[in-house]
Amino acid sequence: ALISLRQLLDHAAEHDYGVPAYNVNNLEQMRAIMLAAEQTDSPVIVQASAGARKYAGAPFLRHLILAAIEEFPHIPVVMHQDHGTSMPVCQRSIQLGFSSVMMDGSLGEDGKTPMDYDYNVAVTKSVVDIAHACGVSVEGELGCLGSLETGTAGEEDGIGAEGILTHDQMLTDPDEALDFVKATGVDALAIACGTSHGAYKFSRPPTGDILAIDRIKAIHAKIPNTHLVMHGSSSVPQEWLKVINEFGGAIPETYGVPVEQILEGIKHGVRKVNIDTDLRLASTGAVRQFLAQNPAEFDPRKFLQASTKAMTDICLARYEAFGTAGHA
Ligand code: G3H
Ligand code: 13P
Ligand code: NA
Ligand code: ZN
Repeated sequence: ALISLRQLLDHAAEHDYGVPAYNVNNLEQMRAIMLAAEQTDSPVIVQASAGARKYAGAPFLRHLILAAIEEFPHIPVVMHQDHGTSMPVCQRSIQLGFSSVMMDGSLGEDGKTPMDYDYNVAVTKSVVDIAHACGVSVEGELGCLGSLETGTAGEEDGIGAEGILTHDQMLTDPDEALDFVKATGVDALAIACGTSHGAYKFSRPPTGDILAIDRIKAIHAKIPNTHLVMHGSSSVPQEWLKVINEFGGAIPETYGVPVEQILEGIKHGVRKVNIDTDLRLASTGAVRQFLAQNPAEFDPRKFLQASTKAMTDICLARYEAFGTAGHA
């Protein structure tokens, strides 16, 4: 069944678990997410990015998610729009039947000026007004995602700040978060706490607290009734990097957010955990490996099955680790 983000995250908060929010672009990702959810009895958040809408088109994405709901009627599914950059973008998703939208006003009206706070408040509040009138949840974002190690926003197009960020920009301010939530009425808030988008988050193996856990605690204390969202939460599995590079790939040494660090976040109010890169890496590794090992095979269903299996395994591990399992 289709449910709103608010409904799901209220339940998650009551029962102290986190929910992975997977980006979806194609049939194999959608099936992997649902197969893992079914095996673990987990509720689902799937999200369509601007890149996904460009790749597959909003109607295809919508029907992909509706098909999943039809095939797995007992699993609650949130249909979420990831990183909306304007009011019209969010309006269109609401019209299409999305049960949740993200209005990311954190980069200002031009998409590259971090800290344009007044713009962020105004545009997010206007989205909340229309979304709530339609029973649709809203995620906002405050602060600028960036790796505390590298000082850069990560590699994804159009959703990161340009250039080097200051330490202050990369950590959401707790008092500002309180003010933002009061002014906008968002259901969930994406915070900057040391994560960044894409595969290149950390250049050295992360040890100890690589996220600003104290900052997450401080924000949660100020806005205990607003669900926190952690973007850039891929763990960048080293075993899949090895497979990719063993079978013709060339990805330099790089590290993601360890699952244990995400669990620390979940202990302190993080409820939605955005993951895209990990499924991309698993899919690419599985396809490279399959084609290298089966050079005479040409039925795309064969290598896409390998892709689905690899992504399902990642989803299973996250549903179990985050405590989502058993809550469908
Ligand atoms: O938010 C970032 C996601 O990884 C989506 O990226 O626009 O390339 O699909 P994308
Ligand atoms: P990753 O690139 O770490 O998977 O993050 C995805 C994300 O935050 C989508 O909004
Ligand atoms: Na989002
Ligand atoms: Zn994101």
